[in-house]
Amino acid sequence: MKYGFFDDKNREYVIQRPDIPVSWTNYLGTKDFCTVISQNAGGYSFYKSAQHHRITKFRANSIPLDRPGHYLYLRDQDDGDYWSISWQPVAKNLNQANYEVRHGLSYSKFKCDYKDLKAEKTIFVPLADDLEIWDFKIKNEGALDRNLSLFSYLEFSFHEIDIDNQNFQMSLYAAGSSYQDGIIEYDFYYDPRKYHYFTADFQADSYDCLRDKFIGDYRSEANPIALVRGICSNSSKKGGNHCAALNKEFNLAAGEEKRFILILGVGKREKAQKMRKKYSDFNLVDKEFNKLNTYWEKKLSFFQCQTPHQALNTMLNTWNPYQAETCIVWSRFASFIEVGGRTGLGYRDTAQDSLATAYLNPQKTKERLIQLLRAETKAGYGLHLFDPDSFDPEAATIEFDSPTVVPKADPESMIHGIEDACSDDALWLVAAVCNYVKETADFDFFEKVISYADKGEATVYEHLKKILDFSTEQVGATGICKGLRADWNDCLNLGGGESAMVSFLHHWALEIFIETANFLNKKADFKKYSKIAAKVKKACRENLWDGNWYLRGITGSGNKIGSKENKEGKVHLESNTWAVISGVATKKRGIKAMDAVDEFLYSKYGLHLNAPSYTKSDDEIGFVTRVYPGIKENGSIFSHPNPWAWIAEAKLGRGSRAMKFYNALLPVSQNDEIEIREAEPYSYCQFILGKDHEDFGKARHPWLTGSSGWAYQAVTKWILGVRVSYQGLIVDPCIPADWDQFSVRRKWRGAEYKIKVFNPDQVEKGVKKITLNGEEIDKIIPQQKSGSINNIIVTMG
Ligand code: GLC
Repeated sequence: MKYGFFDDKNREYVIQRPDIPVSWTNYLGTKDFCTVISQNAGGYSFYKSAQHHRITKFRANSIPLDRPGHYLYLRDQDDGDYWSISWQPVAKNLNQANYEVRHGLSYSKFKCDYKDLKAEKTIFVPLADDLEIWDFKIKNEGALDRNLSLFSYLEFSFHEIDIDNQNFQMSLYAAGSSYQDGIIEYDFYYDPRKYHYFTADFQADSYDCLRDKFIGDYRSEANPIALVRGICSNSSKKGGNHCAALNKEFNLAAGEEKRFILILGVGKREKAQKMRKKYSDFNLVDKEFNKLNTYWEKKLSFFQCQTPHQALNTMLNTWNPYQAETCIVWSRFASFIEVGGRTGLGYRDTAQDSLATAYLNPQKTKERLIQLLRAETKAGYGLHLFDPDSFDPEAATIEFDSPTVVPKADPESMIHGIEDACSDDALWLVAAVCNYVKETADFDFFEKVISYADKGEATVYEHLKKILDFSTEQVGATGICKGLRADWNDCLNLGGGESAMVSFLHHWALEIFIETANFLNKKADFKKYSKIAAKVKKACRENLWDGNWYLRGITGSGNKIGSKENKEGKVHLESNTWAVISGVATKKRGIKAMDAVDEFLYSKYGLHLNAPSYTKSDDEIGFVTRVYPGIKENGSIFSHPNPWAWIAEAKLGRGSRAMKFYNALLPVSQNDEIEIREAEPYSYCQFILGKDHEDFGKARHPWLTGSSGWAYQAVTKWILGVRVSYQGLIVDPCIPADWDQFSVRRKWRGAEYKIKVFNPDQVEKGVKKITLNGEEIDKIIPQQKSGSINNIIVTMG
């Protein structure tokens, strides 16, 4: 069963049936103002922090689904019938009303066709201002003139989400609302920075600032009393539950069209007045909307491809980078799963996100890298979860004291000891920093001095060394890195036991650092870290090979995890993929290990994290053994490590196998079986329930997941094979043999590279010839002049 389709030309996903069993969301806003919104216009907004500066309310994981939201209602004044422009909350019979939703890049368009009235509401956050625009258009397609009334509705949230959820003593009495001159102002008595407004380009005929007046007793957003009566009750108050309902009556002659602009913004009434004036100009609204389009086209123009695989093109050219960008900008703060209770960055998650976004958003990537480096301890481990503002000397300080203003958290409170350190967290940063420099040529970044979380400072380059040294020291009995509180797998809690995955990661990070030291001509470091890398490789090769695949780890008492000797958790995805990616595995062992992955972990929806799932608890292994089989870290198809398998296969030269794994996880592949997948077909999800669970195939937790960045990198860099190095651009594809050709347009350091790859011999890997603007070159394409457009022909064979 399907609910919609991809409109590639407009970079939109078109939902034709809104009655999907779950919410399909989109993200509006590119910088500070964010709205997460579903196909039913359910969702919420915040400004900068979903925890500390919430704007609208959302009752997450509740029934009915998706309430409240950013709604527009229409009422027929002649017969009293009313409906909403999004299917919910009024939910007209789908046989009588026709709805279509277009989720596009940073906007969502809601269309409703009912009783000869064609209505359309486009919601977006312009680049220029901290506000959300509702651009409403309506056309009378019937033969009769109509008397109509428009109502807006959203519910304001107290700005501190924790207080809004649990301390009504504060939220009900410290915020108020008022209406004046077409503007609803929501004020927070203690802090003038936390005012919000809602306004429109019309003078309202009636209004409500009080939720309970608009909705009425024992009613809901589906049947507000204001809609039944056809008029609001002009309510507002200091204290209470607040909403933004503006009502406007209008006539629409047969064939006539009208347009209204409504605005939700951050700031006081004066700001609202200015914005109201500014955005009452339809041309300006159109201009701002088109600017968003230009913004995205520019971003996406850094990498566009045309391959014989249509669904891959759809994902790679639009949705995959869109999701990766969403992750770097909003981290894990705001979705319908993470509903804004935390502002902190997860160390490993952000480090991995930033690996994928160096050209999509170099400024944000750099900002994130600096935040992570500031949260690195002198010992070389990262603070697992931290509030970046606390370590930022320039982040705004709280100007005055009040019971509800959360002061900048004391950095000391976030500094934890090694007992709470995760063994992988900071290792990701080595690759992320080097990748950022390779992309941007910001070589000075290595010399930038940055503080440590626990005082002291050093250059970025020295920070990286500390990270590598930490892993060199923190090894267990066999010389493999200790697992500590957890490694990448939050539920593998090995403590002093050893993690194969982390030693592989260590080796990978070392190799990247060695390449960097060599490039920067740091001879002593090159020598020192090359020696360490050789030692790590040896320890891995001697201790982690299980005969047919790699172990996942060794417990504190010396038991193997992920071995043929185990009945449960015999084969794990993370260690086998990283053995190959890290360069530790010999080709022979790598092939065996990845064959085991195919044999034990493959399913038509992607690769399982481990198999068989654990059913018996074992606290030496960790919490993973206490998770239900087939769910999350215990035997689900955890999406994030799936692209690691595509990279591993590409490194081994097996393009068809990489593509088999890619296709299995590909969200588009499940577009027509939403009764199984349920979640958005345009977003990678955190996990898909595994074969040991009765809901096998259901995808859960869309959007904010490391799988987006990794999927993006795996395909662009390893399958299509276009990646940057200190020396130049590399094109080294690994594709299915039946691909005759494909092309990529890549921008790098100001120049454009139009790459055409031909595969006359039907190979999966191997390049026999490269020409740059007609001249044959050897392997690496040197950086070309900024502004130049260059033609690259690559012949595989
Ligand atoms: C979640 C966490 C991530 C972790 C993964 C596996 O996605 O955000 O940090 O690596 O689970 O446990």
